[in-house]
Amino acid sequence: MSRLPTLITSRLIIRPLNINDTYDMFDYAHRDNVGPRAGWLPHQSQAESETVIRNMINQTMTDTNIGIFALEYKDNRKMIGTIGIHRYDKKNLSAEIGYVLHPDYWGMGLMVEAVTRIIAWLFDDMGLYRIECGHFDFNHQSKRVIEKCGFTFEGISRKKIFLQDGSRSDLYHYSILKDEYDNKQLPWQKEKE
Ligand SMILES: CC(C)(COP(=O)(O)OP(=O)(O)OC[C@H]1O[C@@H](n2cnc3c(N)ncnc32)[C@H](O)[C@@H]1OP(=O)(O)O)[C@@H](O)C(=O)NCCC(=O)NCCS
Repeated sequence: MSRLPTLITSRLIIRPLNINDTYDMFDYAHRDNVGPRAGWLPHQSQAESETVIRNMINQTMTDTNIGIFALEYKDNRKMIGTIGIHRYDKKNLSAEIGYVLHPDYWGMGLMVEAVTRIIAWLFDDMGLYRIECGHFDFNHQSKRVIEKCGFTFEGISRKKIFLQDGSRSDLYHYSILKDEYDNKQLPWQKEKE
């Protein structure tokens, strides 16, 4: 597989990014309350967003990345966020998920809807055994997404990350294993039953 598939959920089209997403990406990526919570600086221009998208597209199915999906909101066809699958370890069948969403769409459960679909794809179609996720100590919103997706807390890397204001953050680590998914132990699998 050299290209990412398109995955459909009730409110989202989860699809490969393309250069036409530049305007929509800049609309959220220039905001102070988005990138810094995920470890990157706000974008300064649409040209920067375009460069980021080109770099993201180049990270599709490489030795160390599975790729970055765009989240398109069905109602208005706007690209409102991304989910990246990085730190791909082919030998041990693991990878790490990271995500970001436009603030106008926070609090609607959209990221849980998207991440749970990606988890199913990573286990069913990409053959992963272990999916990792993490958040900075202050990021309660991301913590809640991780919990609702059914990740298990594994530990803390103390003061691991330098933040833009010069302070340091602990990094909280979580994972989901294929056995848990196969045994339908995850909260969103139980809700569907
Ligand atoms: C983290 C993020 C993707 C959450 O997505 P989401 O679809 O809004 O998630 P949910 O709707 O499930 O809400 C998660 C929690 O955020 C909080 N929340 C919801 N709406 C909020 C809002 N408008 N403002 C502040 N907090 C809010 C609630 O505590 C909620 O938990 P609850 O369902 O137990 O009440 C989104 O906040 C985001 O993009 N943040 C910036 C980037 C980022 O942090 N990325 C992750 C890096 S690890």
